[in-house]
Amino acid sequence: MSERILCVNANAAIDKTVVVKNYRLDEIHHPERVLALPGGKGCNVARAFKCLGGTPVVAGWVGGFAGQFIEAGLQREGIETRFVQTPFESRECIAVLDPDHHTLTEIYERGDAVPSAQVNAFRDLLRAMLPEFSAMTLSGSLPPGVPRDFYGDLIDLAHAANVPVILDTSGKALQFSIAHQPAFVKPNRNELQELLGRKLKTRAEFTNAVRELAARYETGVVLSLGAEGALAVDHKKVYHARPPHIEVKSAVGSGDSMVAGLAYALTRGRAFEEIVRYGVAAGAANALTIGAGIFTRADFERVLRAVQVNALVT
Ligand SMILES: Nc1ncnc2c1ncn2[C@@H]1O[C@H](COP(=O)(O)OP(=O)(O)OP(=O)(O)O)[C@@H](O)[C@H]1O
Ligand SMILES: [Mg+2]
Repeated sequence: MSERILCVNANAAIDKTVVVKNYRLDEIHHPERVLALPGGKGCNVARAFKCLGGTPVVAGWVGGFAGQFIEAGLQREGIETRFVQTPFESRECIAVLDPDHHTLTEIYERGDAVPSAQVNAFRDLLRAMLPEFSAMTLSGSLPPGVPRDFYGDLIDLAHAANVPVILDTSGKALQFSIAHQPAFVKPNRNELQELLGRKLKTRAEFTNAVRELAARYETGVVLSLGAEGALAVDHKKVYHARPPHIEVKSAVGSGDSMVAGLAYALTRGRAFEEIVRYGVAAGAANALTIGAGIFTRADFERVLRAVQVNALVT
């Protein structure tokens, strides 16, 4: 199987980070540094998949000058894009990083509503190109205007094309698409609790919850637990995959890198335990380097060898 995957990045944005010393309300600031990058969780998955040595293609909606920036930026990184153009500007998300006070203030535009013509155009584009790919990832929130069961539609199209899907979203978008049976769903603890509508505390409660989810929706579940790795269920067996202790530089994008790792092993026909091991290793490798979805293949391999996967006896 080829390792070309389609990374759906529904809610694209320019991610701008401004570094401002001693950030204060009601004052004018001159940033030390400004960094602008094509953003959205699907972009991070694509970056991580590329770091692993695979070929990702990013798809979604973009518009205007901001849209051109996003597309050109990804292409400059060597990532192919297939976007549907919207009649309005893509949004911008600003993060103000204050190194003196160690604060991060985030201002996220919601973006305009995608008109139904462009929603349908994206569905058609996907239907036409899905057969080219060996897996598809669905990451992040849906922009305004897009029906909340849209990811469900995309999973149905992927089933028709025999392409496995990894789903990583939250709230209504997750609730309305999980029943369409993606190959894997990757919630974190908050997303799982929100989906189930109840609080979970102990490891046993989380273990039972992932088992319940896998049985109810007949899907593979990989629950990510940050530094504690992941709980994963396949055919009623639950595994705990644990990364080694690492010097964390930034875990931003670790969840997205995990999705890339899962996709990488999945497209290579690896067994379930190996798929989870790859996911955990890519998530941990990402935390070793600043930049969402950025790590070296050498770091990944080093971490991969140290990940421990154990079947839980329950
Ligand atoms: N501090 C850490 N040390 C080691 N590994 C980590 C750490 N943080 C994350 N990881 C790895 O990355 C994986 C995904 O991380 P996490 O559970 O934080 O995802 P998430 O909450 O979905 O994050 P995101 O903000 O990217 O969506 C974990 O399962 C683990 O393998
Ligand atoms: Mg996440």
